[in-house]
Amino acid sequence: MELKTLKIEAEKAVERARDLDALNNDFKQYLGKKGELTQVLRSLEKLPKAKRVKIGQEANALKNNLRIKFDQKAIELKEKAKQEHEQKEWVDVTAPGKKPVLGHLHPLTQIRRKIEEIFQAMGFTVVEGPEMETEWYHFDALNIPKDHPARDLWDTFYLPNGLLLRAQTSPVQIRYMEKNNPPLRIIAPGRCFRHEATDASHEHTFYQVEGLMVGKDISLANLKGVLESFMKRFFGENVILRWQPSFFPFVEPGLELLMKCSVCQGKGCFTCGNSGWLEIIPCGMVHPNVLKAAGLNPKNWQGFAFGMGLDRLAMMKYKINDIRLFYSGDLRFLQQF
Ligand code: DAH
Repeated sequence: MELKTLKIEAEKAVERARDLDALNNDFKQYLGKKGELTQVLRSLEKLPKAKRVKIGQEANALKNNLRIKFDQKAIELKEKAKQEHEQKEWVDVTAPGKKPVLGHLHPLTQIRRKIEEIFQAMGFTVVEGPEMETEWYHFDALNIPKDHPARDLWDTFYLPNGLLLRAQTSPVQIRYMEKNNPPLRIIAPGRCFRHEATDASHEHTFYQVEGLMVGKDISLANLKGVLESFMKRFFGENVILRWQPSFFPFVEPGLELLMKCSVCQGKGCFTCGNSGWLEIIPCGMVHPNVLKAAGLNPKNWQGFAFGMGLDRLAMMKYKINDIRLFYSGDLRFLQQF
């Protein structure tokens, strides 16, 4: 092949090469051991001297020239490959991420925490008691003797081991007063169990929050102040409240704090049994017999207690009309909170 043609073809090949592999092949074709230019150079010796010198010079010049071109192109292609790689690897750290699906706290847990927060802000400590109780803590110490008809108020599960599943959190009052000296302020949230058929407002398992405040001269005024301000913080300043007398063996006098039904605004509906009012917090002044049972002298100490249904509070807050939804594990329900 003529050197001129070879030069043109080789230069075209260099220009055409899109990547390093292609360029290498082109290099082999022209400048490799058996490459076309290499063959020209090898065949020089067969030529007569005059021609040999001339063509030899031209061929060597072309060889050097081509090498430079190949080298430059190789540098270009390497740079290009590097850029392409970087583009592929590039991460836009400012791009919005994909949100992993996260769960959240159960509505009853959210409510429990809210209640704890409000009472803690009023100086109450959060304590716990056992879910399995003795008859003494659950009934006797709470001024409910063995043969007292009031025992029927709590449909209690009795266990084969002689204990029972607590049907109320009130026994925590006794346990706490036994171990701690007044003045004291506690709330005790916890799970309770009752042997009863379930319906929209009854579950066999539910939550209560017990409260107790004992001191030298705690009065009904303190009880009203604490519970009314709790209700306002929990339901909002506009909540409409009412007090009415009630009976529980462990308090004297016994009271009940009611709120205007948030579902019907007091007009009367299914949730409030058409009365327009809901009993939210049963409470009262701790009965002297209860203080005595816990080892305190009722002449020196007095206090108030209350016990509210956490589920009921949650139902009012979220306007839910069936308690069983909380325990159904139905995600369509739970995901709304
Ligand atoms: N333990 C009662 C119940 O489950 C509720 C209750 C009423 C608790 C009055 C109290 C109280 O501490 O003073 O029905």
